[in-house]
Amino acid sequence: MKLLSSSEAETKDIGRRIGEKLKKGDVVCLYGELGAGKTTMVKGIASAFGINERDITSASFTIIAEYDADVPFYHIDLYRLVSDEIEEIGLQDYLRGSGIAVIEWAERAGQAVPEKHISVRLDYSGEDVREIEIEGIGV
Ligand SMILES: Nc1ncnc2c1ncn2[C@@H]1O[C@H](COP(=O)(O)OP(=O)(O)O)[C@@H](O)[C@H]1O
Ligand SMILES: [Mg+2]
Repeated sequence: MKLLSSSEAETKDIGRRIGEKLKKGDVVCLYGELGAGKTTMVKGIASAFGINERDITSASFTIIAEYDADVPFYHIDLYRLVSDEIEEIGLQDYLRGSGIAVIEWAERAGQAVPEKHISVRLDYSGEDVREIEIEGIGV
């Protein structure tokens, strides 16, 4: 499905709706360039699990941030990942576990992404407008 968001708040709201539909073990792959709204979307998804959106930040050096919600919630940001590190960080363990994993720059996860996953593409479409294409789940 394709949606249009015209504000940061709207993207968070769409994220929250996605979060409300997620089940244990689900993997959400986020795609989109820098500033497209991936981290904003993670804030919304996390809010559905009772996580304070202020605790969700853009990765500086942290690649995987883990939150103890009702289910383990993993915010994974592969922006700074060098391809030969994929094995090292043990991505597989997070993506095949019983928690919820949300991945920014998911294209860098390669084979570690399970075949069954939810994908969200965010495209810049004007200063405050983003096209959001969601596959694998309805909201
Ligand atoms: N409709 C929108 N959805 C999401 N972010 C938006 C929107 N309009 C403007 N923005 C701004 O775009 C930026 C998105 O940043 P961020 O979520 O960190 O992107 P990314 O993680 O993809 O690099 C924020 O500064 C946010 O305020
Ligand atoms: Mg980000």
